[in-house]
Amino acid sequence: MTAMDRRQFVELALGAALCSAGLGCASMVTHRVAPVDGNVRLQLLDHPDLHGAGGSLRVLPDGFEEPVYVLALEDGSYAAVSPICTHRGCTVDVRGPELVCPCHGSTYDRQGTVLEGPAERPLQRFPTRVAEGDVLVIRLET
Ligand code: FES
Repeated sequence: MTAMDRRQFVELALGAALCSAGLGCASMVTHRVAPVDGNVRLQLLDHPDLHGAGGSLRVLPDGFEEPVYVLALEDGSYAAVSPICTHRGCTVDVRGPELVCPCHGSTYDRQGTVLEGPAERPLQRFPTRVAEGDVLVIRLET
């Protein structure tokens, strides 16, 4: 088992435990994706986790060490953010309308804006747009 495999296993196990405890979570399945020209393209019909406000999905683009959280917003649009807390680098959890850092309690909204510290900077954001009616395009180069 490689270091990456072990980390992913631990994340999955911890995520499953949090979900079981009713604490909310992002989709526990990490979808590996292959960017093309710096863009990830997700066929929305193929990702029911993103259907409806509050939906979330975790994708791991080829070449990335950390996943990207893809989040369906109340207004029908989507956000894509890094899950890495800007305080000291822990991985935030999706808990309903918020992303919460388990380390020191920083809280972000689903677009990565800080709601409560100690973090002072927003999560890294990746621009998103919907193309061709049902393809969510995430620009990885910001
Ligand atoms: Fe997230 Fe400290 S690392 S609040």
